[in-house]
Amino acid sequence: MKTSENTSKSENGTITSGENLSYWFSSAIKPLAFEKLNKNIETDILVIGGGIAGLTTAYCLAKEGRKVILVEDGFIGSGETGRTTAHITCALDDRYYELEKTFNEHTAQVIATSHMAAIEWIANTVKNHKIKCHFKRVNGYLFLHPSETKEILEKEYEATKRAGLSTELLNSVPSIATENRKSCIKFSDQAQFHILLYLKGLANAFIKLGGEIYTQTKAGNITTEGATANDFKVKANHIVVATNTPINDWVMMHTKQWPYRTYVIAAKVPKGKLPYALWWDTGDPDSKWIVKPYHYVRLEEFDEQSDLLIAGGEDHRTGQADDENIKEEDRYTKLEKWTKKHFPAIETVEFRWSGQVMEPIDSVAYIGKNPGEDNIYIITGDSGNGMTHGTLGGMIITDIITGKENPWIKVYDPSRITLKTTADYLHEVGNMVAQFGDWITPEHIKKIDDLKPGEGGIISFGLKKIAAYRDQQNNLHSFSAVCPHFGGILQWNGDEKTFDCPMHGSRFTNEGKVINGPAISDLEKI
Ligand SMILES: Cc1cc2nc3c(=O)[nH]c(=O)nc-3n(C[C@H](O)[C@H](O)[C@H](O)COP(=O)(O)OP(=O)(O)OC[C@H]3O[C@@H](n4cnc5c(N)ncnc54)[C@H](O)[C@@H]3O)c2cc1C
Ligand code: FES
Repeated sequence: MKTSENTSKSENGTITSGENLSYWFSSAIKPLAFEKLNKNIETDILVIGGGIAGLTTAYCLAKEGRKVILVEDGFIGSGETGRTTAHITCALDDRYYELEKTFNEHTAQVIATSHMAAIEWIANTVKNHKIKCHFKRVNGYLFLHPSETKEILEKEYEATKRAGLSTELLNSVPSIATENRKSCIKFSDQAQFHILLYLKGLANAFIKLGGEIYTQTKAGNITTEGATANDFKVKANHIVVATNTPINDWVMMHTKQWPYRTYVIAAKVPKGKLPYALWWDTGDPDSKWIVKPYHYVRLEEFDEQSDLLIAGGEDHRTGQADDENIKEEDRYTKLEKWTKKHFPAIETVEFRWSGQVMEPIDSVAYIGKNPGEDNIYIITGDSGNGMTHGTLGGMIITDIITGKENPWIKVYDPSRITLKTTADYLHEVGNMVAQFGDWITPEHIKKIDDLKPGEGGIISFGLKKIAAYRDQQNNLHSFSAVCPHFGGILQWNGDEKTFDCPMHGSRFTNEGKVINGPAISDLEKI
């Protein structure tokens, strides 16, 4: 397969959280920028984070007549939202029969209903505000990974029916030649869109309601009184932390979810060859990771001759790609091979990017009051379903703040304790603790001189671990490789050219600037 040179790069994570630009950024013209905050302010509600979760929450609360201010460290969508593949679906990463086991049949039903409601909410918002974002209603098809048996599909089909979803068991997977005469579950009434065009429309609607957005405005020091933003004071009655993973030392939340890195390619395909649809396989049951990686595929409009087939997968725990002996940058090759086999009509690969998802231990996002707080709220644990989970975040937090009853509040409560997942929990905690072993494991590169321009790595100097990067002009940048959050040893991500923390997913540019929480400070310069 030919690979085009068209993969655009950002300027060191200033538009998005990594070196590779997603298709959405490459096609959405300019970053969605607003003024920077430059004074102290007071508001009823402060929302921190301009991804789908924060912006939806801000919009929902402004619609209720509340005074809302949103602050965003980068630009609107410059976090994981701009790196998504934007399937809008109730076919969750985790199976409904597993949700029944983890919770119970009733809760699985509530989860299904809430995700369908989130899809409807997005559809209505697009319609009401006439948002031009390529929104389409599509079908989704869940098919078997070769190592899985048909029984699990049948079991899942029965569970989706009990959950009240509109599904069908088919004897073939539409448009995938290799899956002819193999079963799949068809999910009706799913959707897709161009995420950054959607956010642009939502931001405009929020501003029309009197909302204020400040970009390149970094929040910190969150208390029940408000927070600081660009070192100014923002006084607020309610604070919503929608930073993908909470950005304070709220230890409890960081032991309930785990960061995974996932990869995407987007390849041209002649228009009309494939229908607009969503496809997912059931994931690799033999994978070493607790959250089994699966493939997710969809089609997007590109130009007059072509569509783009956008395929994702090849996930691993953040900072641990080497544990499978497949480097970050090599995962695209594997993904291309899989995609070509299943969709032979694809032509050149135009875009490649990766991103991070937070995997909650019981598969369901954490939305609601931060444990122990009364007026600080969080939206996190998106799993691979952040379009619907982020939208639900806005809907649920608005109901909590405005005092409306909502049966979803309890299900998504961040304080919930789910006992049935203990074995997986202990496994992931074990993995986290094992990362402290990196304090004594050998360095990844022997000498600074080994680094070529554009390369980075971790080096030992006596007992010290150094994160070093040599830029294209041959200047060396070196920092402590100790994560300022809780002391994990960072790993070099040669694909996105960042330093990633395997513990809770904090990430830093090759110039040491924090780009993903929970850490809030930059790396210490050496
Ligand atoms: C490759 C990939 C594919 C995916 N595919 C799908 C899919 O098909 N369907 C689906 O439903 N989900 C998908 N997801 C998941 C989904 O994209 C995410 O869950 C979702 O976008 C997260 O939204 P968010 O608003 O919670 O976080 P983000 O978009 O990360 O937003 C958080 C924002 O907070 C800002 N921020 C952080 N710290 C601060 C601070 N101190 N001050 C101010 N601002 C701050 C960040 O800059 C960021 O913009 C995918 C994810 C990835 C990575
Ligand atoms: S993210 Fe928590 S220790 Fe690095």
